[in-house]
Formats: sequence, C-alpha cells, structure tokens
Amino acid sequence: MFDLVIRGGTCVTPAGRARADVGVRDGRIAALGALDAAQAKEVLDAAGLHVLPGVIDPQVHFREPGLTHKEDLGSGSAAAALGGVTAFFEMPNTQPNTDSAERLAWKVQRARETSWVDFAFFVGATNDNVGELGGLEQLEGCAGVKLFLGSSTGTLLVDDPAVQRRVLASGRRRVAVHSEDEARLKERKALFAGRGVDAHPEWRDEECAVKSTRSILALARETNRPLHVLHVTSAGELPLLEAYRDVATVEVPPQHLTFAAPDCYARLGTRAQMNPPIRDARHQAALWEAVRNGLVDCLGSDHAPHTLEEKAKPWPSSPSGMPGVQTLVPVMLDHVHHGRLTLERFVDLTSAGPARVFRTRRKGRLALGYDADFTLVDLAARRTITDAWSQSRCGWTPFDGLAVTGWPIATVVRGQPVMRDGALVGAPRGHPVAFDP
Ligand code: DOR
Repeated sequence: MFDLVIRGGTCVTPAGRARADVGVRDGRIAALGALDAAQAKEVLDAAGLHVLPGVIDPQVHFREPGLTHKEDLGSGSAAAALGGVTAFFEMPNTQPNTDSAERLAWKVQRARETSWVDFAFFVGATNDNVGELGGLEQLEGCAGVKLFLGSSTGTLLVDDPAVQRRVLASGRRRVAVHSEDEARLKERKALFAGRGVDAHPEWRDEECAVKSTRSILALARETNRPLHVLHVTSAGELPLLEAYRDVATVEVPPQHLTFAAPDCYARLGTRAQMNPPIRDARHQAALWEAVRNGLVDCLGSDHAPHTLEEKAKPWPSSPSGMPGVQTLVPVMLDHVHHGRLTLERFVDLTSAGPARVFRTRRKGRLALGYDADFTLVDLAARRTITDAWSQSRCGWTPFDGLAVTGWPIATVVRGQPVMRDGALVGAPRGHPVAFDP
C-alpha cells in the first residue's frame, strides 16, 4: 500500500529516462517500476508527462521580514510551487538581515507556518558575526553562509579582504558569494552620472566581477574552504573558475542565458536591471558554453522582486533585481526544446547540482529512499508567460509575453501534491531541508 503512486510517466532517474511508476510511502520514494497492481491512497496520472526529481532553486529573495510589500514566504513559496520548484534557499538581505541564530530561527518558524515547499536560509556574514558563523551554519534550516563582496540590495557587505579571510577560515560548509569588487564599483559609479539603465553593465563591468572572483578564489584555496560563486555572469571569470575547481562551484541564472544587452535594456528598461548585470551576447555565449562543458554546477533564479513603482525610479536609484522563481522551469524547458541543453542536463543543473553543491540530505535525485519531491512537466505544452500568471507579490515578470514550449504541470513535495494544472492544492507544509554538517 502506497500513499501516492505517480502512474505512467517517463521518469528521469540517475540511470536515464525510463517509463516507470513511482510509489511513495511516508514522504519518500519507496518503489520505482511497474506498479499497476499496487494499492494507493492517491494516484497522479502522469501519462504523457516527464517526472523529474524536484527542482531546487538555491537562490531566492523572499523579502520577509521587513519588505513584505514586495514578497513574503507565503507568496514567494506559492510562486515556487506554481513554477514547479519543490525547495528554495533564501538569501539573508531582509530587514533585519539574517545574521544571528534568533533571526534564522524566526525565518525557519515562519516558513514552517507559511511555505508551500521545502526551504533553507542563508545567514549573512557581517564584520561583527564572523566568529559565530561556524556555529550558525550548523543550525536547522541553514543553507550556509552568504558573503557579499560587493554591495547590492541592502546593507550586507564584507569588502575587507582580511575579514573575508576570517569568514572563510571560520566554519566548514560551502560559502556562497556575491562576487563584485566593491572598490571598483564605488570608484566608477560617478562616471555614469546622467546615463540610463543601459549603463548598468558598463558601471558593474566584467573587471568588477573578474577582480573580485580572482581574489576570493585565492583566499578560498589558501584557507581550503569550499566556495560557491553565485550568479556568474562574465566570460572572464570562467577560466578562473575552471582553474579553481578544487574549491569552487558555479551558479548561473536563467536570465543571463536568455537576455542580452543592449536589447534587454532597450526593451525592458530597469526591469532588466540586476546585479551582477545582464551583459552582451559574447558573455551569454560563454555562459552557454559553460553549461554545455560542465563548468556550471547549478542554476539559481536570483528571484529578487521589487514593485514596478520602485523600478520606475530613474537609474541608478532604481533597485536591482527581478522575479524568477516561477519562470525558471518553463524558461529553461524552452531552451531544452530548442536544443540548447538536454533534459538530463537540466535535471543535473536543478536537482543533482544544488544537492551536490550544498550537500542536501535525501534531495536532488529520483531514487529509492530520497524525498518524494517531483516536478512533473509536459515537454510539448505551448504556453505564454504573462504578468497575470505571476504569483509574486510584485506582480510582474521580465518574461511577460514569452511563448515557451515546456511547462510544469504538477509539483509534489515529500509525496504531497502542492500544484496541479496551474493551481495550488493542499496546504503550505514546507519543511527545512537537511544538509551534511
Ligand atoms: O539584482 C540583485 N537583486 N542582486 C542581488 O544581489 C540582490 C538582489 C535583491 O535582493 O534585490
């Protein structure tokens, strides 16, 4: 007797694609194969669908506490569920910042009450909490330490290399970094006074990213600390990351694979403004090459909602960031449809990859004993992404009007369907994701 059987789909397992039913018991994958004779409390018909291991989005900003006019854990996680995402790791630049045990525990409790999908939270490194980071990263619901090397949205910043070294020397789990060089950002900002948002990638240029990444990689090797470079956006960082494979893993956002300057700024204005910025076609081609050659470990949406009113401020007062958690799966499945990556590589980047990078327990693999987290997709469904479909409180998506082939049809978290055919079902029952120590 199973709690749930997913029947008739094509499963993407570590062994490849195979027609198989999936039997779920107590929230875990208990059987894979022909289960026609099995009894089940609930059956999900997956005929014509692909059953993928649950998609993990390892970089979102859900704005709670403090900025809930843009998003909260309920609305952000609902957007995740509707987009086929079964777990998220959330960033610490809320108000207040997530930089202590109490503030982390607050988020974990709040997410237990309101999150539709599973979750974990990064703790932000500051000049004042360095000594506590090794303990903080071991707390329940903690995805690890996030280190801002250059300033972005909010106040988190550690730009002194001596403090950066101390951050890397305290603790053991992989440290996630926002890599832009603060000194260069400050130095060059005035050069672009009076310009529009098309100057965003000129101000925050390739050298900003390369300089910062070169320096933090050297510190990571010196301290023998694993590092995860979030949203890698420049061609120049890729050979460095290859050379530092011993300590570094690599994340790329779907936006940088889909949009390119100058077109995105002409079309979307400040809606296309994010940090690090969307760059020109040369960088986009290099990022795709890194997807194909294996250098990229995972995708992260960097879901960073701001209201349209906030976005309407003139650059550079307009805030950086755009929503993305709900569009990650359809946008990337459309790239699969166009042959830019295989479905297997998509699964590697969205399930196995985040699991390997962050060392999750029981997640990221469609295999016996793992959590019964699934993203059911229709690879042939043709739909159009619209602002109206967006669940995020900000109410818009940079992909509005994009026609795609490939769509999430159901989202299952530990055996509980939370989305079917575009509607939320059940109730918010998210749990903290567990990690190796
Ligand atoms: O564009 C961005 N927006 N990049 C970040 O690093 C932060 C994010 C936000 O929180 O708005």
